[in-house]
Amino acid sequence: MSGVRAPGGEVEGAPDRRTPAERAAELRRLIEYHNERYFVLDAPEIPDADYDALVRELRQVESEHPEVITPDSPTQRVGGAAETQLFAPVRHRIPMMSLDNAFEQSELDAWADRLRRQLPDVDLEVLDFSCEPKVDGVAMSLTYVDGRFVQAATRGDGVTGEDVTANVATIRVVPHELKTPAPHHLEVRGEVYMPTATFAELNKRAELQGSKTFANPRNAGAGSLRQKDPAVTASRPLSFWAYQIGEIDGAVPETKAAGASSKRRQSKGAWPPASQSAALALLGAAGFPVSPDARTVRGVTAAFARCRELEAHRHDLPYEIDGVVVKVDDLSLHERLGATSRAPRWALAFKFPPEDRTTRLLEIMVSIGRTGRATPFAVLEPVFVGGSTVRLATLHNEDQVRLKDVRPGDLVIVHKAGDVIPEVVGPVLGPGAEVDAEGATAADRSPPWTFPTVCPACGSPLTRLPGESDTYCTNIDCPAQRVQRIVHFASRSGMDIEGLGEERVVQLVEAGMVADPADVYLLRAEPLATLERMGAISSKNLVDAIEDSKSRPLSRLLVALGIRHVGPTGARALARDFGTLGALRNAGAVELAAVEGVGEVIADSVAEFFSNPKNVAAVDRLVALGLRTDEPGATGPRAGATAAVGGGPAVAQTLSGKSVVVTGTLEGYSREGAEEAIVSRGGKSPGTVSKKTYAVVVGDSPGVAKTKKAEELGVPVVDGTRFDELLETGELPG
Ligand code: IVH
Repeated sequence: MSGVRAPGGEVEGAPDRRTPAERAAELRRLIEYHNERYFVLDAPEIPDADYDALVRELRQVESEHPEVITPDSPTQRVGGAAETQLFAPVRHRIPMMSLDNAFEQSELDAWADRLRRQLPDVDLEVLDFSCEPKVDGVAMSLTYVDGRFVQAATRGDGVTGEDVTANVATIRVVPHELKTPAPHHLEVRGEVYMPTATFAELNKRAELQGSKTFANPRNAGAGSLRQKDPAVTASRPLSFWAYQIGEIDGAVPETKAAGASSKRRQSKGAWPPASQSAALALLGAAGFPVSPDARTVRGVTAAFARCRELEAHRHDLPYEIDGVVVKVDDLSLHERLGATSRAPRWALAFKFPPEDRTTRLLEIMVSIGRTGRATPFAVLEPVFVGGSTVRLATLHNEDQVRLKDVRPGDLVIVHKAGDVIPEVVGPVLGPGAEVDAEGATAADRSPPWTFPTVCPACGSPLTRLPGESDTYCTNIDCPAQRVQRIVHFASRSGMDIEGLGEERVVQLVEAGMVADPADVYLLRAEPLATLERMGAISSKNLVDAIEDSKSRPLSRLLVALGIRHVGPTGARALARDFGTLGALRNAGAVELAAVEGVGEVIADSVAEFFSNPKNVAAVDRLVALGLRTDEPGATGPRAGATAAVGGGPAVAQTLSGKSVVVTGTLEGYSREGAEEAIVSRGGKSPGTVSKKTYAVVVGDSPGVAKTKKAEELGVPVVDGTRFDELLETGELPG
């Protein structure tokens, strides 16, 4: 392959006789030199890609020889040049495509029919198929040059992903050096995932520490991978299955070891592999983990039988799978079959149907959100469904409870698909059934549940406005609302204060230590340490985390304030455009609505928020406590002196030409706000799902028709909680 140039001006292929310490020192010198050219003198000498290669090589040397790391190494600094290179964009030379999905036997049969039509000379009953577990993780592309790991990139939108080399380098099972000779440039594709046992342990630890738990192994894996600090990734053991060879270029080197001639013949001759099963064998021999549950079977009937077999045993595996990928084994047929714009024709993902489970509904309770909205929810006997243990499930609103007619004590059906919020479908004892699975009859049921008339937290009357489905506690001093406002303030998308989760906030409010977000900044370690489950160390950690949060950019503060309709994306657009809190709070609705990505709904809400003297006083108090009030890198026309180079659109066109359908309510967005966010990123947001739809985003109380249609057409479904991620990256969950 041409263009793979060793950084630092070395001649490709020349033997490097320097010790790792010498090479690391040289790389540090080069990086410092180019940092100065770039950051101080504003006169860079080398393209960014070359600079990235230097940093990447230094990280590589340091990860292989930790003894050469120095405290002043650019890789060890928080912030600064090395950090800005984390998650840099990486273009995939061969796009990372999606797979077509099949949910039912008829769709598997239709795929077989298509294969028969395209391969009239092939008898599908004697054709080999590779049947591989579809691991529910994060797709990853790993690059090896001369047998050494040099880069890891996420799938992104299939064309451009993110550079996560430093984090993937901490995954123990990812080889840093290949065990067998391989082509000069080798790209290996696979899935980074979190084993089920690791996930359970991580959540147990998080629960004990009072920090947030993850909904499922996929989220935990993806979250761990996106850590800015690779040490955090390393502390949450991730794993990897290799499933495909991507780009290969250059020859397989000769092995020099004596007596290796037969091995050499075997390994050299084996590249490039002729079949998927041979590719998996080569990857396994090179040191990559390959799922032991991947099987090659003869004939399409046997392939579909293998799908059913894996479905029946899915929970016996030590990792989460959501289906089976069936691939034509013979790679020469891949060329004949080709691909559509989205997916190859030689493979199909058989997706398991969402699982429904039965459990006992213990109680129906009502929670009060930060805006005072009263949401009924089901307290369930814990049940493992859709990849996680479900204890609580939303019942949405008063009408939904009535429609479903679920009552405390009922045996109910719980439904959960992937990331989607668990839902109580209805009682097992539905119309027509006289007894439930445990022998209870209709006469044994408790009376229909009725919505409480007063707030369970403060006792004020609950009100439901005519024509609306939601019920509210309108007492602004309600302690439950207070708690939720502080929890939201400290949440990951807000001020991101580690260790200040719901349980801790309840404790602090009950102890009279905090009543609103600003009080958080007055907490001191000593009094905190007197609380239950709070030692000297955790108190200090919490105070440090609170102090640290003062430097979050303006966009975080805007989210944390809980302004209606302002989610992370809208907040970033506003902060980038205005640059400072001062400029933003004095703007009128018209000026606010002029920001790219901000429509009238958000603009009106922000203007209204800052016109309320109570809100202004609360914000002033936060500012007086030393919170940061500007946005680094603000580029907008109103950002004044902070404006940087470049005059492109304020919002990246991540959804350019893509059509994204939204169903249900998304937290932090009104319907219009969500549409605006899609359109401002170059996308479309039609009201109906079609084959061309890029993704359907499913929020709270989604429309059944849209989700069903998405499943029928194989359109990817994205959980509402990941909407911001979709907007920001244009990327679909794997
Ligand atoms: S092959 C061109 N094999 O499923 C298609 N994908 O829905 C290349 N996945 O993004 C993918 N296990 O992240 C393939 N054994 C496997 C897989 C697998 C999981 C994921 C992968 C991909 C997604 C497609």
